[in-house]
Amino acid sequence: PLPARHQAELPIPAVLKPVRSDAGADYYEITARRATARLLPGHDTEVWGYQGTFPGPTVESRSGRRTVITHRSELPRPTAVHLHGGHTPQDSDGYPLDLVGTAGHDMHAMHGGMEGMAGMDAASILPQREYRYPMKQRAATLWYHDHTMGFTGPQVYRGLAGFHLVRDEEEAALGLPHGARELPLMIADRSFAADGSFAYPELDGGRPGVQEPYMNGVLGDVMLVNGAPWPVARVDRAWYRLRLLNAANARRLRLALDPQPSGGGALVQIGSDGGLLERPLRHDSIDLAPAERFDVLVDFSRYPAGTRVRLVNRLGSGPTAEVMCFDVGGDGAADEFRLPERLSAVERLDPAKAVATRTFVFQKDDRHWTINGEGYRPGRALAAPRLGQVEIWRFVTDFHHPVHLHLDPFQVIGRNNGDPGRYDTGWKDTVDVLPAQGVEVAVRFNDYAGRFLMHCHNLEHEDMAMMAEFTTE
Ligand code: C2O
Ligand code: CU
Repeated sequence: PLPARHQAELPIPAVLKPVRSDAGADYYEITARRATARLLPGHDTEVWGYQGTFPGPTVESRSGRRTVITHRSELPRPTAVHLHGGHTPQDSDGYPLDLVGTAGHDMHAMHGGMEGMAGMDAASILPQREYRYPMKQRAATLWYHDHTMGFTGPQVYRGLAGFHLVRDEEEAALGLPHGARELPLMIADRSFAADGSFAYPELDGGRPGVQEPYMNGVLGDVMLVNGAPWPVARVDRAWYRLRLLNAANARRLRLALDPQPSGGGALVQIGSDGGLLERPLRHDSIDLAPAERFDVLVDFSRYPAGTRVRLVNRLGSGPTAEVMCFDVGGDGAADEFRLPERLSAVERLDPAKAVATRTFVFQKDDRHWTINGEGYRPGRALAAPRLGQVEIWRFVTDFHHPVHLHLDPFQVIGRNNGDPGRYDTGWKDTVDVLPAQGVEVAVRFNDYAGRFLMHCHNLEHEDMAMMAEFTTE
């Protein structure tokens, strides 16, 4: 039986405190460990969490100020940590074979079942790793999560995900809703066994990947927001900032408020994966593929006091059609905020300046998910873009694939030879490519020469080889 909806209060992940700071950097320590959490009423669930919590603690950085995080792991399996959306040099980017773990983890036994896993010799397991993030990037909603070779799906499912927010002066000057009126919302579906444990259909014997019926991706029937099932948030009649993150392994969302306030356009998008848009963009609903973030303002004063506003998922059915709800309070709440017409100056990458056009085909073969016909092989690069130059990358697919690039964000310049879609505005690092579609993006990699990843962010597709490397030089 599923838990009752709209009972749990919306949890807000704690903000992690640095263990020390100096003139140029803040230093953090995070240990991934097993812990017992009360996600469902009356049940204990074993989570694998950063600091033992799901979501992990929120890290907050200032743009331009270095953040250094020492990760340790007490988990039964090693882990790699990736800062999604981070403009990060390769040695701190959470390469899937740069692992953190305890002595006794045997990578070869772990991957014994996977044929053709060439490149595994390059795996290294250290008891701890220091991830150094220069944070030369604008304010944005980032998140960190597990990226272990072949096991990202089950490990994120068990809880290895957290927010990492970058703030800067430009954003601060807008006076956006903050404090109790800024809500990071990590949305993820999960299934639970009768005893309350996570039900993830892993292959036996610690082999990576899932059985055939789950090859398209693992979907759950309980919608969690910040780890709570269908929670409630009490809100004032005022503007709120919702940092929406789809942290599901495979589920796509179409989020809307129900009821819509009269006049519609209740979801005022101010930012995308890579930070602020030029100007606010009003939506009645927002499509959110796995790993995408939408930074959205909602003016709850458009609703009468006492309204219960549901956040619904129009792509779901039954329990997965509901996400959470907001109970609009009765008090006349002070709200100084006025929506600015202009948010930011966004540099446009000029496709006419592109020095190369590359096409990447995402599709299934008989056993794997592939890019340009090949499953992931560590150490083999599919492209070698030059730093500082604009390129056009085309992603072509058979099925839904949220395509993600590491290192730098991109701008969508077209879909199916037409204009970008209504959710493509701004700097993106993940783009939802629909079945049998093509998406064109302009991208320019900057600053860091090295080896980086592109992959499908449907985590079952990723674990089943839909990943590739590119090198920047
Ligand atoms: Cu969110 Cu390569 O990952
Ligand atoms: Cu995919």
